[in-house]
Amino acid sequence: MRPILPLLSLLVALPVLAAPGPRQTQIRPGELWEDANGNHINAHGGGLLLHEGRVWWFGEHKVPGTAGNQAWVGVHCYSSPADDLVNWRDEGIALRVSDDPKSYIAKGCILERPKVVYNAKTGKFVMWFHLELKGQGYAAARYGVAVADRVEGPYTFLRSGRVNPGVWAQNIPAEKRTLADAPAAKRLSSSAFPEGMDKAAIYYRDFAGGQMARDMTIFVDDDGVAYHIYASEDNGTLQIAELDDTYTRHTGRYARLFEGRFMEAPALFKKDGKYWFIGSGCTGWAPNAARSAVADSIWGPWTELGNPARGENAGKTHFSQSTYVLPVPAKPGRFIFCADRWNPKNQIDSRYIWLPIEWEDGKPVLNWKDAWSPADL
Ligand code: DGJ
Repeated sequence: MRPILPLLSLLVALPVLAAPGPRQTQIRPGELWEDANGNHINAHGGGLLLHEGRVWWFGEHKVPGTAGNQAWVGVHCYSSPADDLVNWRDEGIALRVSDDPKSYIAKGCILERPKVVYNAKTGKFVMWFHLELKGQGYAAARYGVAVADRVEGPYTFLRSGRVNPGVWAQNIPAEKRTLADAPAAKRLSSSAFPEGMDKAAIYYRDFAGGQMARDMTIFVDDDGVAYHIYASEDNGTLQIAELDDTYTRHTGRYARLFEGRFMEAPALFKKDGKYWFIGSGCTGWAPNAARSAVADSIWGPWTELGNPARGENAGKTHFSQSTYVLPVPAKPGRFIFCADRWNPKNQIDSRYIWLPIEWEDGKPVLNWKDAWSPADL
């Protein structure tokens, strides 16, 4: 009878060793999305990078249960041929959180919305992310930066901080560049300003110590200049900050955008010489109506275009929140809206809502599709 036990434990272990799935031809928003090993892709709040014929998908690796709201593993990487985008190969953990409790990225910190860019000057891959220090909830509101020699990593943590301490944003008028009569600030706890509070009050509050940096993206323009766009000022106002030519530091040039509009989940893309923005409102993990905007200059002025979602669940953006807009490598001028359908009780089961961006009266729109293929764009 003895040999039965090891045999039983092998059988129990079998479902964990997922079988390679068949080649998929369609993206099915909201369904489980299996990688080439048959596991649901684990790369939430992600960003994508085209590099040497493949698209690389970086995102938050989630663990089961509510523990998935903190980082216990790090940033997961997948890749797909640039003309596929449906079938993804697991490339492993690109950035690992640290076992050292004193590390900025100690296990149990909050590490969200990683975005990776390639810097041709240094030959390095640079990862930016939103970092919250372990045990402090969302109070720290910092950015983190890590670098690697290879696209899939391993990434080495470089630094974390608030943005541009002691530097005035370029759209603060000269006569207002003083803390002497800074408006009184109360911490914003909801998506509204207390009666009578100046919408720049949080900006002044954080001037000396540096601006808050939460939900974020990195956008690299055609001229190679990179920008960090992040929810700041207690999430009341977005900011955009230029990066230096190594993409690892801010230059000090930055601006406040969409003052007092409470936007999160920023995503940027460029089409026909214009800059396009898609983001969300500010309701925690719960979906809300997306926002969109257009500008001739990345510094603004930005013109809001309203909620790009269309159809039955437009008011909740098809139950999703933006994370990235992917230019389709094989189809210049076509873009994919990449979003998350969060499940804060079990984030490992959060789903991906990827939809082609369509255009209506010169505005980007998001129509629901049960299944679609990037090859048909
Ligand atoms: C909304 C943000 O978009 C997410 O990335 C995450 O930070 C949640 N808020 C936390 O509530």
